[in-house]
Amino acid sequence: MRHFLVTGGAGFIGSNFIHYLLKKYSEIEIINLDKLTYAGNLDNLKDIENEARYRFVKGDICDTKIVEPLVKACDVVVNFAAESHVDRSIGRPDDFIQTDVFGTFVLLEASRKYGIEKFIQISTDEVYGSTLGESFKESDPLMPSSPYSASKAGADRLAYSYFVTYNLPVIVTRCSNNFGPYQYPEKLIPLFVTNAIENKKLPIYGDGKNVRDWIFVEDHCSAIDTVMQKGENGEVYNIGAGNEKNNLEITDYILKKLGKSGDLMLFVDDRLGHDRRYSLNWDKTKKLGWKPFMSFEEAMDKTIDWYLENRWWWEKLKSGDYLEFYKKHYKLDDQ
Ligand code: NAD
Ligand code: DAU
Repeated sequence: MRHFLVTGGAGFIGSNFIHYLLKKYSEIEIINLDKLTYAGNLDNLKDIENEARYRFVKGDICDTKIVEPLVKACDVVVNFAAESHVDRSIGRPDDFIQTDVFGTFVLLEASRKYGIEKFIQISTDEVYGSTLGESFKESDPLMPSSPYSASKAGADRLAYSYFVTYNLPVIVTRCSNNFGPYQYPEKLIPLFVTNAIENKKLPIYGDGKNVRDWIFVEDHCSAIDTVMQKGENGEVYNIGAGNEKNNLEITDYILKKLGKSGDLMLFVDDRLGHDRRYSLNWDKTKKLGWKPFMSFEEAMDKTIDWYLENRWWWEKLKSGDYLEFYKKHYKLDDQ
């Protein structure tokens, strides 16, 4: 029996990862530690709330008293918990520094104190910054350009330092842009899909030519699993899918699939410090025997269908505080 502590498991990728593990492995137990910020949502885990191999604990990864007994009871820590939205980090970086850096430190310290088999730090491709040339390799320098990515870079290197200094079995993953079910509707794809369904405008930053490499969330989950089994301690693994698209291409795909008019497109002010292009070389992860399973089109269709079929999940999220943030951010009154 292997005992996992998954932090941030009520968020988008964490909840998909818990589903993935429970489906694939029978001899496991998972504790999900999540603070339930605006982005944490127990609806993401409704179907497994009575599952014997799964337990939810509400709490903050910055709180040593909560973290220590949970780490003590576990073999593997997978740290997804983070403030994750770049736009929010521009408006108010405080929570990003606290959770993404200090919270990771608390988890690492507890892991050092009690000993664990593996510590997986979920980092991001944003730590490299933008590139108009070659795709980034794991050995390239980090040049993060938003408070979000800088806080993630801090956590990424802090985790590595615990391997070098204390021999903690740490592995760091840096994945590209995820999409799929249960993604909070503030990120590009779920925001544009749900807005288009509701005939609301799709706010495109700047000229819409910024490029991201899009990966289906289940492919990210299977990559983490591979890295956990076959990766080497102290190493970083890039995870990408080879689906580099600009935001206009993504918008166009969504509008066509939903049969909506281009009139829904609305060009708005650019994001401050907006990275032009992310691009990863993930040969090192490929060498472990992993590759993405879903094509971009299959994954997009599956995702769009999911949002069409699960209005109960996102409609209630797009009200209250969300609406306030959204209106202020886009300077819109009618959305
Ligand atoms: P998310 O915002 O959907 O989920 C984050 C979760 O962390 C939420 O459930 C939230 O409640 C929880 N959380 C926040 N602060 C916490 C704290 N102090 N203590 C405990 N829980 C806390 O984010 P996501 O998109 O699922 O991303 C998960 C991780 O993957 C993050 O570390 C992010 O940096 C990384 N990542 C995301 C992407 C992407 O495209 N979404 C790509 C690469 C890496
Ligand atoms: O690359 C991995 C990262 O991907 C993760 O580490 C982050 O947690 C995740 O949020 C994501 O960051 P991005 O900033 O790339 O994702 P976002 O969905 O916010 O934006 C994607 C692109 O779409 C980006 O160029 C900005 C643009 N955009 C976004 C929104 C929300 C718009 O044009 N309009 C929008 O309303």
